[in-house]
Order: sequence, then C-alpha cells, then structure tokens
Amino acid sequence: MRNVTDSTITQAVVRSFDGATDPRFKHLIERLTHHLHAFAREVKLTPDEWMAGIDFLYRAGKISDEARNEFILTSDVLGLSSLVDMLHSAAGGTERSALGPFHAENSPMLAVGGDIKRDNDGEPMLVHGLVLDAKGKPIPAARLDFWQAAINGKYWQQDSEQSPDNLRFRMVTGKDGAYAFTTVRPAPYNVPYDGPVGDLLRAGGRHAWRPAHFHFIVSAEGYRPLTTEVFFEDDQYIDQDAVFGVRESLLVNPRRNTDKALAQRHGLPLPFHSVEFDFHLSR
Ligand code: BEZ
Ligand code: FE
Repeated sequence: MRNVTDSTITQAVVRSFDGATDPRFKHLIERLTHHLHAFAREVKLTPDEWMAGIDFLYRAGKISDEARNEFILTSDVLGLSSLVDMLHSAAGGTERSALGPFHAENSPMLAVGGDIKRDNDGEPMLVHGLVLDAKGKPIPAARLDFWQAAINGKYWQQDSEQSPDNLRFRMVTGKDGAYAFTTVRPAPYNVPYDGPVGDLLRAGGRHAWRPAHFHFIVSAEGYRPLTTEVFFEDDQYIDQDAVFGVRESLLVNPRRNTDKALAQRHGLPLPFHSVEFDFHLSR
C-alpha cells in the first residue's frame, strides 16, 4: 500500500475492513468511510480545520463523565439523535423524541392520579390520558417512567435545592390503560453550553434553549418501548428547539378546566389547567 494516493485511499481503507465478520458492521464502516472522505474532498478540508475537529472531540471527551455526555449532546445539536429517532418511529405508534441526559433509574412509584407537584413552585396542572395500541385499544398495566425540569429550568441532578426524587415517577396504568397525575408546568431550559458544544452553538449564532417538555418512557409487555417528549404548543421556543426534538404530533395545548369534581379529586384550585395526551405503542 506504499503507493496510496488521494484517489485510491478510500478503497484502500474500505478493503482494510475486508476481514470483518459482522456484515452490518462492514456495511456501516464502508459507508462511513465513503461519506467522511467525500466530505473532506468536497470542502477541501485543511489541516487546521481537521485539527479543530480533533480538538473538539478531545474537549468533548475531557468534559464528559458519568453525569454528562458531550458526545450525545453533539449528536443532539447536530440533529443526528432526532434523525435516528425519526427513522425508528414505528408506524401507528407515537413518535419518538429525545431521551436527554437526565433520565434516572428507579424513580418512585406513583399511583394513578397521584401528585408530584408537592411543594414545587409553578402553575399546577393535571396531566392525563391513555396508553393504547396502534389500533386505539387500551393496553392494561402499561408502565410509565416520567421526569421533568422544575420551574427554574433545572432537573434535580442540576439543583442541590431539589430532592433526588423531585418531579419524577414510575406508574402502572389500570386495566383501562389510563394514567393521570398532577404536577407543575415546566419551564424552557438551556442545554449545557459551557463546553465544546456551547462553542459550536455560539459559532453558529445559535442559542441553547429547549422548549419546556415532559419526558416519558412508556412500555408494556409485548410492545416496543417508547421514549418520547410532550411539548406545549404556546412555548416561545417551540420552533427553535436546540436539539430538534419537537414534533407536531407531540404538542399539547393546556386547557382551562372548570370540572369541579376533577378539581376536588386532585386537590386543584378552580379553574385549573389540564393536558390530555394518549400514547400509542406498536408491537
Ligand atoms: C433534555 O431534554 O433533558 C435534553 C435533551 C438533549 C440534550 C440536553 C438535554
Ligand atoms: Fe429534558
């Protein structure tokens, strides 16, 4: 291979993987090599620009730890995470959206109709709906894993004032597939921008805001687990999510609710806001 040239190097790299036994791996690495080399050729990548890219990766590695993954954030702000979600949203199922870095295992269990707003500031809100199959039939004993940021835009991991169990729960629906809980409306927040991703956003004249959202992982025996988010249609950042997670089908419009019985059952003042959202799981 001593006479490798700029017109033979792509094939040479592809052939160097000929011994791969996993056909999917082989396909991925071949296509990745082609696209990477095509990119460098197309933009005539300079050594300084190449080095700036390497430095970005180096700094992403340095700032990453158990609690912070700058590589995932890079993928998020470049729209790759969302593209992968969209490519794998199943027909008939609710669209997938970002997991984000703040999901924690073993959230406390909450009964259907329970409350997580407790002493959180913010606008109280009833959130309810059904977990259904792709044909609209209720799924009994579906599981919900939920988390959200507080009114200050921070998750419990980012805020020593919040208890580790704040604003998150797991719930099992009844036979009717119904879920319900009371919480507070979350606020928009910034993705971390004190690292290389922040530099990237600034270089692009971009901001780091995400519109307020609820996170859900919905699962049930025999169905594909669904990781998704629910957004508020009237949010000021709804059309400018820094990580491209918003989908039309995931928007809700909080309703001014005057149902006395419902208010009483959930200890809410009248009128209160409610949000209704059904999840569809696919097989
Ligand atoms: C989040 O929603 O928590 C999030 C998602 C992607 C990047 C950063 C945060
Ligand atoms: Fe989030």
